[in-house]
Amino acid sequence: MITKSEFQARRKSLLSQCDASSIIIVPAASLQTRSNDTEYPFRQDSDFWYLTGFNEPDALLILSNQLELNETEASATLMFVLPKDPHAEVWHGRRLGVEAAPKALGIDQAHSIDTLDELLPELINGHEHLYYTLDKYPHVDSAVQKALARCKNAPKQSMVAPRSIIDVAPMLHDMRRIKSESELELMRKAAQISADAHKRAMSVTRPDMYEYQLEAELHHEFLMQGARSPAYGTIVGSGENACILHYTQNESQIQDGDLILIDAGAEFQSYAGDITRTFPANGQFTPPQRSLYQLVLDAQLAALAVLKPGATIGEAMQAAVKIIVTGLVDLKILNGKVNELIEQEAWRPYFMHGLGHYLGLDVHDVGRYKHKNMDIPLEPGVVITVEPGLYISADSDAPKQFRGIGIRIEDDVIITENGIEIMTNGVPKTIDEIEALVGSALDDKSAQLQKMQVRGPKDRI
Ligand code: GLY
Ligand code: MN
Ligand code: MN
Repeated sequence: MITKSEFQARRKSLLSQCDASSIIIVPAASLQTRSNDTEYPFRQDSDFWYLTGFNEPDALLILSNQLELNETEASATLMFVLPKDPHAEVWHGRRLGVEAAPKALGIDQAHSIDTLDELLPELINGHEHLYYTLDKYPHVDSAVQKALARCKNAPKQSMVAPRSIIDVAPMLHDMRRIKSESELELMRKAAQISADAHKRAMSVTRPDMYEYQLEAELHHEFLMQGARSPAYGTIVGSGENACILHYTQNESQIQDGDLILIDAGAEFQSYAGDITRTFPANGQFTPPQRSLYQLVLDAQLAALAVLKPGATIGEAMQAAVKIIVTGLVDLKILNGKVNELIEQEAWRPYFMHGLGHYLGLDVHDVGRYKHKNMDIPLEPGVVITVEPGLYISADSDAPKQFRGIGIRIEDDVIITENGIEIMTNGVPKTIDEIEALVGSALDDKSAQLQKMQVRGPKDRI
């Protein structure tokens, strides 16, 4: 759990990075229409959540290092929130309200969001710098622009508008890149729930199921363990669907002999898990599937071995690429000298995405990867995914037996003081472990029988 004092410390740290006479504005998210008068489940804006832990829509956070609203601090934290409204609350749910907000959220002052246009000019007035991310929430942009215009056009220059508007996101996102111990605890939980869900899906898989039925198994496990939403659209791609990187249709019937690629992660208390596993529907890899799978696994293990403070994702990618290109040459999918093929990026048609990304409140989490065109080294508290893949499309000119195979293996990793902690080891990834797990929870005899029948001899292609 993130405590009120941790949220306060984050706000203080953000404000301390601004010049004197600065005001920061960070809006909450709004509800999004799904169709007609129904909405998607509410998901708070990650930046706003990071600074407040407040899960209501249409709020606005204001921080100032010039306004003084309490005796102990030469700074102020204000929030605009939805006001209490018995009628709206009966229909749509409880609101914290203006009165309860200061104590509940550890802030100095709260106002109704209905008074934003009236109060914002006064709040902005006299600050030299406004930190605000434009073009993210157009309705807040227009409130800010109106307030700036009021300051500029006030009679006899009685008000002063800030002379600079600076995007607050880079500062905030540098902070979000390094996770605190309490954030890591939540991320370990998201990872564990995600791992359990993958195990559950693998253990009930049998050919003839539909991809969406495995999606249901994953989401069931998420919810049963208190993760109320997937962290992103769940991918269950069987057969050639595994070659579509962000396949979320999940509507095909799984065929005997297919590999199934599942990329799914739970969101637990706003933090994302992000795991991919690839496994045979009938519990047995064919020889070509096995060769390619082992290659991706070796590449992933090589990349993981590189990671530690001071290393870069680019260096881990190089280690993975070396294994992959060597293996593709051995399998005659690529022809030529390994070094030259690496130089020419000849692997790109088969491994077209990066090695991994930051993970946190967002699945593709914020934070810089490069500074002055150089990779920023990893440091303790950074969380990344490591997810090499190989995708041999059905129309590729690779040897026939490899066509239509898509494989990705993805784990979630904390960079620690001495190396790494792999949070998602709970779900197996070696060939033997996977073959043992797939279908192992099928409890009715006919399913067991069916499983035995669809398993061919080990050398079946
Ligand atoms: N699930 C999206 C990704 O792995 O990046
Ligand atoms: Mn990922
Ligand atoms: Mn993923």
